[in-house]
Order: sequence, then C-alpha cells, then structure tokens
Amino acid sequence: MKKGILWIVLGLAFCPTAWARSPYLAQMQHWGEAMSRLQTAMFINDFKGMAEASWAINRAPEVDKDSLARLEKALDSKEYRDLRRFERYLRETSENMAKKAGEKDIRGVLVEQGKVVAACVQCHDLFQVKILMTLK
Ligand code: HEC
Repeated sequence: MKKGILWIVLGLAFCPTAWARSPYLAQMQHWGEAMSRLQTAMFINDFKGMAEASWAINRAPEVDKDSLARLEKALDSKEYRDLRRFERYLRETSENMAKKAGEKDIRGVLVEQGKVVAACVQCHDLFQVKILMTLK
C-alpha cells in the first residue's frame, strides 16, 4: 500500500506534464479559456459570444522566437514544420468559425469547432511532452 503511494508520487514527479511549465503556457491558458467561452455560447445559442470566442482563439498570444528557435533545433525539420502547422491551422480555422458565427450558421460553427478540438488533441498527443522536455 505504502509502496503504491510512493510510485504515484514518483510517477507524478517524473511526468513532465504534471510539473513542467513551458513558454507555451500563456497561449494554452488563453486557448483553454476561449474554448470554454465558445462552448458556453454554443449551449445558449449566443452567436455574438461564439464569434468573440472564435476571434479570441484566432488572436492567441504567440510563443517567443527564442523558444521556437530552440524547438527548431531539437526537432527534425518535418516535425518542426508539423508543429508550426498546427498553430497556423488553428488560427485559420478559428477565423472561419468566427465567420460562421457571424452568419448565425450553427452547423458551420460546429464543423469548425470539431476541427479546432481535433487539432488541440493532436498537438497534445504528438508534441506536448516533447515541447516540455525541450523547453523546460
Ligand atoms: C502547437 C501544439 C499545441 C496546440 C495546437 C495546442 N496545444 Fe495546448 N498544450 C501544448 C503544450 C506544449 C502544452 C504544455 C504547456 C505547459 O504546461 O507549459 C499544452 C497544454 C495545454 C493545456 C494545459 C495548460 C495548463 O494549465 O497546464 C491546456 C488547457 C491546453 N493546452 C489547451 C489547448 C487548446 C484548447 C488547444 C486548441 C485550441 C490547444 N491547447 C492546442 C501544445 C499545444
């Protein structure tokens, strides 16, 4: 039993996502908040709120150039290109989502929202740990 607890503590201590913080954090907190606002707006059919949240996703803070340069060095060039593509894709998709919200097109918003969520999840799967290990 005691051993079990020890393993959990050790596991958390060595799991980079549990303690590490990277220069991506500000962008992520911004995206996390904007996504909650988007969802709330969708629940109550608030198109203005959907558009605002979409623009907030679109205008998330950039990661500083130094950190990007370090990542470019650490990753192979295809990986780095893929990483950067996720962010571009999110900025484009959220702009489309804002336009759909402006047209009060809930189906359109839903389609774009699905693409946004998929991109968030994929980048976390592929890069979250690598980024934390590189930039910590
Ligand atoms: C370019 C890759 C990438 C994309 C795309 C991405 N994330 Fe992240 N995300 C990260 C990394 C790296 C971290 C770890 C940051 C840290 O803890 O310093 C993270 C962590 C997070 C966290 C946890 C933050 C915390 O307080 O520990 C949230 C929430 C999050 N992302 C939300 C999102 C949302 C929402 C999206 C899509 C709109 C998204 N992310 C897209 C790379 C990405």
